[in-house]
Amino acid sequence: MNAKTSKPSPRRIGTLRAFLPYAKPYRWTITLALLILFLDTLASLAAPWPVKLIFDNVLLGKHLHSPWTLLIPASVAQNHFLLLDVLCLALLWLALVSAGATYAGTRLLAVTGQRVVFRIRCALFAHLQELSPSFYDRQRLGDLLTRLTSDVQAIQDMLVIALPSLLLSGMIIVGMISILVLINPIFGGLGILIALALYFILSKYLVRIKQVARQARRQEGNANAVAQENLLGIRVVQAFGMEAHAKQVYQESIGESLRLGEIAADLESSMPSVVSLMTDVGMMLVLAIGALLVMQAWITVGDLLVLTSYLRTMYKPMRQISKLSNTFTRATASAERILDLLQTVPTIIDRPDAQPAGPFNGFIAFDHVHFGYDAQHPVLHDVSFKVQPGMMVALVGHTGAGKSSILHLLQRFYDPQRGQIRVDGQDIRGYTLASLRQQIALVPQDPMLFRASIRENIAYGRPTATDAEIIAAAREANADEFIVRLPKGYDTILEERGVGLSGGQRQRLAIARAMVRQAPLLLLDEPTVGLDAQSEQSVVEALERLMVGRTTLVSAHRLSTIQRADLILVIDDGRIVESGTPAQLLAARGYYYRLYSLQSRSLESNLALAFN
Ligand SMILES: Nc1ncnc2c1ncn2[C@@H]1O[C@H](COP(=O)(O)OP(=O)(O)OP(=O)(O)O)[C@@H](O)[C@H]1O
Ligand SMILES: [Mg+2]
Repeated sequence: MNAKTSKPSPRRIGTLRAFLPYAKPYRWTITLALLILFLDTLASLAAPWPVKLIFDNVLLGKHLHSPWTLLIPASVAQNHFLLLDVLCLALLWLALVSAGATYAGTRLLAVTGQRVVFRIRCALFAHLQELSPSFYDRQRLGDLLTRLTSDVQAIQDMLVIALPSLLLSGMIIVGMISILVLINPIFGGLGILIALALYFILSKYLVRIKQVARQARRQEGNANAVAQENLLGIRVVQAFGMEAHAKQVYQESIGESLRLGEIAADLESSMPSVVSLMTDVGMMLVLAIGALLVMQAWITVGDLLVLTSYLRTMYKPMRQISKLSNTFTRATASAERILDLLQTVPTIIDRPDAQPAGPFNGFIAFDHVHFGYDAQHPVLHDVSFKVQPGMMVALVGHTGAGKSSILHLLQRFYDPQRGQIRVDGQDIRGYTLASLRQQIALVPQDPMLFRASIRENIAYGRPTATDAEIIAAAREANADEFIVRLPKGYDTILEERGVGLSGGQRQRLAIARAMVRQAPLLLLDEPTVGLDAQSEQSVVEALERLMVGRTTLVSAHRLSTIQRADLILVIDDGRIVESGTPAQLLAARGYYYRLYSLQSRSLESNLALAFN
């Protein structure tokens, strides 16, 4: 990797610095770990020295010089057998200290790294929960999940694996080179030369391996997409006799992975050879020069031994260091993506002067409301209407007319660009968000059930609800009858999104959930779409019980729901084009009348079909 791209720019360091607060609670643990790793470095650096002394002072019988005389008393130094014992014992100690410290230090840093990442991840998820729906309109879910997983993982890799080993490797290399320079400047120069050459070769290799690995991963993703598509659509594939074609497409796609895999294998297996060749050549040079220096008596045999032993071990820390620049680049890229999210502020927040709403009576007013999900594309134009407490209002209109948008605005998922929405006479922006939404129960078209027990799914409406309240709600919602027939009753764990329940059953659970919420405002977004007549009957019954005593806004296509409304608002292309009671609108012979006759005609023809 060239130095220009891997060099941390101030901005990158700034990015990483933004995560420091997450590491702050662990600063003492981190300091301790660093101290332990420093001890480890000292032990590794010291390891060849007893060997040197064994050669120089035991085998070749030289006199012990300072600084060794400070460490080893003269009485020991004079007795060669005793000296050998002491030196061997020292070797053993150094090995033990080094092993213990590597374990303790790396483990401590790794565990702390994971804790830091845990905190970042929690903070990120908590932040995602706060962001407004308009943010999610612009995001791809896959990308957000990637940030929560792979991007966090990249940071974890850096904190847990790369950083500790960089510190250790860096300290070892710096220590080795300084000691070499101290022994003999020529040695020092040689050491630096070999270290640089190793770094150069290793980083070239690693960059190439990474490129290939990245391409291979992308290719793997493509191949998976091909497989997924064909397996999901296996019936279509077989029906059209496209098996051979599918096989060919898949084969082409994994063929490319195969080619990349071969390149990667080639690189990975040639790297150790090249590196060991380099260290061997380096070793030869060192031995040649070193032997000359020994013969000139400029250095001792033991010094030469220390040098060769350092060179042999230099490969490992160099490899770590050259790896790190990649990990670092990846981690900063990920850190930027995560920071981007963390710094996105929710668009819908409490106004500074917002007050908690008291219990609502249920008077709703839209006052000249203009709204678009983005300002350039208006969806609602000058919408005004009033709803008295306890009324049931049906929003009727073509698909895309803006019915759901009205319900979104009332829950303050978005704010209108112009105009005002009032509940009980006050602009809803004057209430705190939590207290506003607290008083709204929602039954969406696609009830969102979570992977949890039925009991918990109902209590989602009000986590403090008692068992008795949950069961009562389920009874009212006509849900109790099918729940008790399930093997584990209320403790049945639902699959994700309630897979395994019928549409009508899911809808009735959603109604029970709205029931326990005991909220004065009720929003129903097409609650009976996609149900057959029998389920619809049961759901409509449940809804009627739910609506009692509540101000209800229902977006509806089906006459079964609309006919009971106190007020119908007919919406066309974001405008209210008709409003009134069902009887008034029938008499007016407008949009509602046409819808009514269309649906009753199809009802009649269905009945006719059924009875013929
Ligand atoms: N999140 C969004 N971002 C951008 N545009 C949106 C978004 N949601 C809806 N729209 C657009 O706003 C318009 C009104 O949509 P809305 O969902 O309110 O219609 P609807 O009357 O509820 O329709 P349906 O009967 O199909 O549910 C549509 O043109 C739609 O494309
Ligand atoms: Mg809708």
